[in-house]
Amino acid sequence: MADQIKILVIDDDDSGREALTLLLRSAGYTVVSAVNGKEALEVVAREQFRIIVSDLFLPDCSGFDVLQNVRKVSSSTEVIVVTGHASAQTAVRAMKEGAFDYITKPIDFDELKIVVTKALEKQQLLSENVYLRKQLQGRFEFSNIVGNSPAMQLVFERMRRIVKTDSTVLITGESGTGKELVARALHYNSNRKDRPFIAVNCGAIPEALLESELFGHVKGSFTGAISDKPGKFEAANHGTIFLDEIGTMPLQLQTKLLRILQEHEVERVGSNKPLKLHVRVVSATNNDLEKMVKQGLFREDLYYRLNVIPLHLPPLRERQNDIMALVGHFLAKYCQLMGRPLMSISKQALEVMEQYTWPGNVRELENLIERMVALTDGSIINLEDVPPGIVRGKRSRAGVRIDLTETGADLNAIIFEVESNLIMQALKLSGGVKAKASALLGINRTTLVEKIRRLKIEA
Ligand SMILES: Nc1ncnc2c1ncn2[C@@H]1O[C@H](COP(=O)(O)OP(=O)(O)OP(=O)(O)O)[C@@H](O)[C@H]1O
Ligand SMILES: [Mg+2]
Repeated sequence: MADQIKILVIDDDDSGREALTLLLRSAGYTVVSAVNGKEALEVVAREQFRIIVSDLFLPDCSGFDVLQNVRKVSSSTEVIVVTGHASAQTAVRAMKEGAFDYITKPIDFDELKIVVTKALEKQQLLSENVYLRKQLQGRFEFSNIVGNSPAMQLVFERMRRIVKTDSTVLITGESGTGKELVARALHYNSNRKDRPFIAVNCGAIPEALLESELFGHVKGSFTGAISDKPGKFEAANHGTIFLDEIGTMPLQLQTKLLRILQEHEVERVGSNKPLKLHVRVVSATNNDLEKMVKQGLFREDLYYRLNVIPLHLPPLRERQNDIMALVGHFLAKYCQLMGRPLMSISKQALEVMEQYTWPGNVRELENLIERMVALTDGSIINLEDVPPGIVRGKRSRAGVRIDLTETGADLNAIIFEVESNLIMQALKLSGGVKAKASALLGINRTTLVEKIRRLKIEA
């Protein structure tokens, strides 16, 4: 393993160079050496080195020049400089210019080996980081958000515009509709993608702690504040902060949040030193904030600040068209995760799912698919593999059957009767709340309102 790790040793002093080369070879590394800066740069242009150990004083240039030139060619190569005499100044300068570390002559071989190991560890971590971040970004590509329905196409269309801006976004939708997924996708597709995405679930943090969680605190600002602590806003600087369940935020904190959003500055609790913020704020809620504003539970001015760009995720029951694609997406995901060949689903099983009302939305569908993939032996999910609750919970089609005789039927009148009857029942069942009534009927609210008007129903 170690013999694939290449190290370049640069030293004009023959005995020093040979000693270093021998030592590093004995530690299992592949070592190439150069006697001056010019030769070193020629070698570096040809070959890739993980580490360079360079004397600071070379006949034709200084170790600093080597450092700078190496940085240009290979930014991941770590440079360790060797200084003749321990001069704090040169050491500090070497570090400032990007050296990994320095060691002083006479070289302590054990020390050198430790420094080399550390440099390799750092590279390993960095490359893992880059890899992980890439993987994360991949997970939040728009293509991983499934939705063919017109409603979701509108959402994507708006998302594509949003990612180019820094505007504040408010995502609304019932539980499980994909609010967090969308928030992350917005971040990882924006030019802030290499900066942090910090999610705060305002509903999960006790009220007493939320303020210091969000804004940070200084040591001694309250009992238990044993040291300075940055808040989530600071942590998210230059990136995105995701304020989840914003509807649960206490009024007193709403006031503070509003101030921060207006002034683009945050102060840690107990401090009066403001810090400039460049944070993109995305919040989400499954509450009806407008109603909360009317009830005095949510500040109206804050609502408008947060809701600069609204993004509404419709419940799954209003986008039956998406179910087939989502089932396919999750089948692929879980079959792969569980290491089994791709499964399919029978027409009947799919139909039942399309008819079900999905109170838990996409999350419920995803969990169901995971469960069915785990519990089904064959390669097809059949109707009998679907849990009875889903089959029972599917929308009733009522089996309306009207026999047509030779005297004919008044189609419009029959449809009118059936429609009015069902709408009135739905309104009654939902206590007049149109959003609920429309959900019961599997249509969206605007369609319901339109029908009520057309059918002249007293709502
Ligand atoms: N359109 C979609 N395509 C693919 N996966 C989705 C989609 N919508 C949601 N999901 C998945 O469903 C699950 C729930 O989504 P998410 O956590 O984003 O919902 P939420 O709206 O934040 O819910 P809650 O309000 O309960 O927090 C996640 O695993 C998410 O990846
Ligand atoms: Mg969520």
